[in-house]
Amino acid sequence: MEVVIVQNSEQGSEIAANIIKSQLTKKSRSVLGLATGQTPLLLYKRLIEMNKSDEVNFSKVTTFNLDEYLGLSASNEDSYAYYMRENFFKSVNIDLDQAFLLDGMTTDVERECNEYEYKIKKCGGIDLQVLGLGREGHIGFNEPTSSLTSRTRLKTLTPQTMEDNKIYFKDATHRPFHVLTMGIGTIMESQHILLMAYGEAKAQAIVETVEGPITAMVPASILQMHNKVTVIVDEAAAAKLSKIDYYKWVYENKPHWQRP
Ligand code: PGA
Repeated sequence: MEVVIVQNSEQGSEIAANIIKSQLTKKSRSVLGLATGQTPLLLYKRLIEMNKSDEVNFSKVTTFNLDEYLGLSASNEDSYAYYMRENFFKSVNIDLDQAFLLDGMTTDVERECNEYEYKIKKCGGIDLQVLGLGREGHIGFNEPTSSLTSRTRLKTLTPQTMEDNKIYFKDATHRPFHVLTMGIGTIMESQHILLMAYGEAKAQAIVETVEGPITAMVPASILQMHNKVTVIVDEAAAAKLSKIDYYKWVYENKPHWQRP
């Protein structure tokens, strides 16, 4: 696990955008796993700029989003489909037929989830998965006690996640607590995982993810078992880590040829 400690989310998003750029330069038909929420917003903004200046090309890229609220249609402003369109897809040259999200309006959850898994496999699997981190250590919507080998399925949100996400809802009267999410096993099959976390509220989840024991109580801690994970954190999110100087030293001395 590589831990990159940055000054702020702007710097972190620049590094993350360059990792994605380098992935697309190596493989124009890359499959990206994408996240929503506050954390990746600046990353998307930076990628849009890079796309406009022809530094990155999304025309051959396939994307799979991590999760979606059950009961919200793609046109609902609170859905993640809407978020992705507004914050990223509508501003880059991506083929929208290759930008997949789980269907929040499905009437057959099991079939929807199985088909999502099948589509990911058929595209050759995810090359690079972007992740945010929940305050209680969730990745996607895999809440504490999620099976560490779980596949795409329905989950029920914790009260903490409901609370954390309520600021994003335009319609406060309809905040679904059932979601469809890629499983932890699904996420773990990605070739490279890029987790970002910014701010003090994420410090406990980060120390448990990076330095704690692997446990379903902190779903992100399973990333310790993955062979290529980049964790980008600002100083506030890194504050509880015990080996901050070591992580900085490693990153400063990273061989040139290993950098994106
Ligand atoms: P946030 O959410 O980016 O809005 O903090 C992260 C997550 O819940 O995974």
